[in-house]
Amino acid sequence: MSQKIYKVPEDFAALAHLRNADYQRLYQESVRDPQGFWARMGRRIDWIQPYNKVKDTSFDERDFRIRWFYDGKLNVAANCLDRHLTKRGDKTAIIWEGDDPKLSERITYRELHERVCQCANALKSLGVKKGDRVTIYLPMIPEAAVAMLACARIGAIHSVVFGGFSADSLAGRIADCGSSVIITADEGIRGGKRIALKSNVDIALTAPGTDCVKHVLVVKRTGIRVPMYARDQWFDEVASTQSKDCPPETIDAEDPLFILYTSGSTGRPKGVLHTSGGYLVYASLTHELVFDVREDDVFWCTADVGWVTGHSYVVYGPLANGATTVMFEGVPNYPDAGRFWQSVDKHKVTIFYTAPTAIRALMREGEEPVKHWSRKSIRLLGSVGEPINPEAWEWYHRVVGDSRCPIVDTWWQTETGGILISPLPGAIDQKPGSATLPFFGVKPAIVDNEGQTLEGATEGNLILSDSWPGQMRTVFGDHARFIETYFKTFPGRYFTGDGAKRDEDGYYWITGRVDDVLNVAGHRLGTAEIESALVSHSKVAEAAAVGCPHDIKGTGIYVYVTLIAGEQPTEALRAELRDWVRKEIGPIATPDFIQWAPGLPKTRSGKIMRRILRKIAANEHDQLGDISTLADPAVVESLVRERMNRP
Ligand code: WTA
Repeated sequence: MSQKIYKVPEDFAALAHLRNADYQRLYQESVRDPQGFWARMGRRIDWIQPYNKVKDTSFDERDFRIRWFYDGKLNVAANCLDRHLTKRGDKTAIIWEGDDPKLSERITYRELHERVCQCANALKSLGVKKGDRVTIYLPMIPEAAVAMLACARIGAIHSVVFGGFSADSLAGRIADCGSSVIITADEGIRGGKRIALKSNVDIALTAPGTDCVKHVLVVKRTGIRVPMYARDQWFDEVASTQSKDCPPETIDAEDPLFILYTSGSTGRPKGVLHTSGGYLVYASLTHELVFDVREDDVFWCTADVGWVTGHSYVVYGPLANGATTVMFEGVPNYPDAGRFWQSVDKHKVTIFYTAPTAIRALMREGEEPVKHWSRKSIRLLGSVGEPINPEAWEWYHRVVGDSRCPIVDTWWQTETGGILISPLPGAIDQKPGSATLPFFGVKPAIVDNEGQTLEGATEGNLILSDSWPGQMRTVFGDHARFIETYFKTFPGRYFTGDGAKRDEDGYYWITGRVDDVLNVAGHRLGTAEIESALVSHSKVAEAAAVGCPHDIKGTGIYVYVTLIAGEQPTEALRAELRDWVRKEIGPIATPDFIQWAPGLPKTRSGKIMRRILRKIAANEHDQLGDISTLADPAVVESLVRERMNRP
């Protein structure tokens, strides 16, 4: 833990929404009187029917419920669009920055409103109704935000699937939620490389369980020729003929807004379901306060809308607040390592929010590509997705922020809907590597493996002892799995799956996942998913995936593979298996290293001992711990020997 403290700059605090005393006072109020606090905060958005009931939550299994603002009615898209039209109709809502630095577009709130209405009417013309699911498989183009908001406008539930996922992963997500419509593009383009989105959709729709899909809308992004089947229509042709007026549907606060699939420690990715009222209140409040957003800010969150960060801080939070949000189609190092800063200067970005993995990758390129650009418009930096190591934090602060911009290291999850632990930049001093203190209404605690709450400076499992409005409500179609995953380990409390330390100042330091979820370059992957992809290959008998330290990605993917009898371990097969996983799940799941394993260390009851495999992968052979309970301790020796033969 770095002991260095970066004080809130006085000039920043002077203009900030909240200073330290405000934070202390409001936090106390928020946990002492959550009903009163959130009753007030909920009014930040427009309600068609105002709520009288605020919080009704219990994490007790016998009496489980999570409801917020639950007798209120609203429309999320109207909150993100219509209510800004009188004051901000001509304000830029979205600045789109293309993969090619010559391409960009500015869309005003008025234009966005029209495009969303047309898209909503297009969906209606295809028979989409409130509660129906729509899968969005698009690159980072304005149509992605348009499609999300169009669903929200008519009460359809969107499920955005990251464009980097394979046809197989896409098929699983379509089948699980039973989408009737898919919105995709002919191709995506990132870092100059084409991504065959439409072709992936075509392959996905041959998979079992996907016959729920009746229509596919295809946005022309690159203009390449793609086969168009009976179910396919060009997005533009359907949308452009529609009326620019589409009255927003009246939606209950607890009606679903979206499903977003995310990896857990077991089984297939689960459909995290978020509802409308609480989510929007929470996304917009955290956006305003954590990023200290003001009317003239240009806010750039570099995340893809395929992840929750893109949902809450590219689309819903900023647009609910009437802010200007940047949507970036490309990658940090294309055409060169100065791309972020070039774009910051081009659009006069004032708040910049990215992931540690990107910072570490750019750090490696040195200071020149940063210093080449002025970056003087930036006043606040943010980090999200994985623990940021103090070296990367210091570099971000000194080089990117010219030692004048605070950094908000924001800890949260797909499940939490919005930021839970983070400095408020005008109120809370920062320590490099610490997410610092909880946001309003958030009650974190650290418990040991038996569930005993640990006080003071300590380390253990991070749990949350009460609900907040942005919390997920269920796993789509599997409420039992929701309870099982989050509320059973430590009964009556939400288990985050993360480990954390707390220091003498009460600051939280997230140490990373303590379950079988890997956080690779800020992307969540389940070891079980990688393993099941590997064993579906005809030459693989058994596989075990673990995380290993990785300079850029934070965590790399290290897999142990046992081949079926008679198969020879060759370099060609290693390459083939890497490609196989890429194709099965997507490029983000590509193993960094494959080690051949004649056998895997197992307990006598047959459970793979991952703890040991993690130590071997990390080259920490001296810390294997007790291996006497293994069915065959000799397996470990041979794995260690093989590992030691490599650097
Ligand atoms: C990790 C992304 C440390 C954590 C918003 C969490 C972080 C998982 C941070 C959720 C942070 C996210 N410091 N770790 N600031 N932010 N994480 O669902 O392990 O993609 O459980 O949500 O990312 O990843 P997810």
